[in-house]
Amino acid sequence: QQVDTCDIVVFGGTGDLAMRKLIPSLYQRDRDGQLTSDSRIIAVSRAGLDGPGYRDKVAAELPHFLPKDTYDSETVDAFLTRLHHVTLDVTSAEPWEELAALLTAVEDRVRVYYLASAPKLFGGICHRLQDNGLVSPQSRVVLEKPIGTDLASAQQINDEVGAVFSEEQIFRIDHYLGKETVQNLLVLRFANTLLEPMWRSAAIDHVQITVSETVGVGNRIGYYDGSGALRDMVQNHMLQLLCLVAMEPPNHYDRDSVRDEKLKVLQALKPLTGHNVHRNTVRGQYAPGSIDGQSVPGYSEELEGQASNTETYVALKAEVNSWRWAGVPFYLRTGKRLDRRASEIVVQFKSVPHSIFPAIDDEMIPPNRLVIRLQPDEAVRLHLVTKAPGPGGLRLREVPLNLSFAETFDERLPDAYERLLMDVVRGNPMLFMRRDEVEAAWEWAEPILTAWQESQHLPKRYASGSHGPAAATALIERDGRTWNDEE
Ligand code: BG6
Repeated sequence: QQVDTCDIVVFGGTGDLAMRKLIPSLYQRDRDGQLTSDSRIIAVSRAGLDGPGYRDKVAAELPHFLPKDTYDSETVDAFLTRLHHVTLDVTSAEPWEELAALLTAVEDRVRVYYLASAPKLFGGICHRLQDNGLVSPQSRVVLEKPIGTDLASAQQINDEVGAVFSEEQIFRIDHYLGKETVQNLLVLRFANTLLEPMWRSAAIDHVQITVSETVGVGNRIGYYDGSGALRDMVQNHMLQLLCLVAMEPPNHYDRDSVRDEKLKVLQALKPLTGHNVHRNTVRGQYAPGSIDGQSVPGYSEELEGQASNTETYVALKAEVNSWRWAGVPFYLRTGKRLDRRASEIVVQFKSVPHSIFPAIDDEMIPPNRLVIRLQPDEAVRLHLVTKAPGPGGLRLREVPLNLSFAETFDERLPDAYERLLMDVVRGNPMLFMRRDEVEAAWEWAEPILTAWQESQHLPKRYASGSHGPAAATALIERDGRTWNDEE
């Protein structure tokens, strides 16, 4: 279904995110006929390009970021005609004449300002948009994460942006919320009656959330070294996943009901401070090693030999202080340059209380597990215990009931940004972070950062291509549990 005619203005329009994700996603939406014929995409950057120069750049790069079967030159040519480029240094005091002329040359329409630039520029860009008369009630602004580096800087950004745009016009993007399986988590929980009665401490032993990447920090090291894995992944993506697993059923599937429930989870997270931080968190940094048989440098080699205290891996144990979740640990881990690319949520149920089978102790009966695989191959698997076939003695075997999305559905699974960009144009913020959520997430994350900083402990080095630091294994094994590392 077509969305309203719109102008999508991307600040940072020649950057990594724009070229890798935003432009390809808009191409896919155009290909599916979702953009009206007069909708435009306007890239803003300091690149000194004109319209044809930008279109050439996109034409050259786009094929690298599209699944092959979605590329066709006729559609690409039509898509390119939507693209414009405005050269602008957003920090200079010059009037934004060229951008203003382009935007005001057409009737007032939905305008999306996508700020894919450094967060410290967000406030300034919004003020300049206002000063140049470019903000109307139909305008919306999208803020890429990270929103700040701690609570105070997040509040400052929120205040500055909030002085120009109302909360309904602000879309704080967390692309994990646009992933198909993440949205499916809500459907799985609340469109089936089977799970919900068991979705609590009486039946669940613990939850694991893993986002494991094989890539390193690549050309983003400038940003990443000032950030690290806790700010880059945990404060946002991983806490959002935790919220969706842990939240109470919202009354409605709408913007505030869902976000109110997520907020309550964030507010119920047990604070990790001081000594508890060292006991319940592990930081790591990748050392040289090999990925897929290729030697790769370590993090400090990528920093040209400079020592850095930045973590590229975090594992931690979180707890949600609520009636439903009391005593159920949530183990989170994420890292770069690990042995596999896999993001998943594992809900591990309790063991059987007693074995009725002779010669099979209760601890020999594997507990049920629900594995929600976000990537690379989206799936939901429920691991059950069955009898191994055969006439011999009774042997048990764990087998998964496997719902593979690729095998079950013919449709291409869209990239998260495709869905989220269209939600912005439609004005639907349900899958975006509200101000109070971002700030509550910082409130929990900041004491961890502070404790790490105060201790001056260096992150534990782990070989690229490994499972991560041994201390992360010890963190969960201390509680008599193990990470789920099945393929
Ligand atoms: C981004 C982080 O938000 O998410 C990156 O800044 C990370 O460091 C990326 O690689 C992971 O996203 P995905 O969709 O590839 O899992």
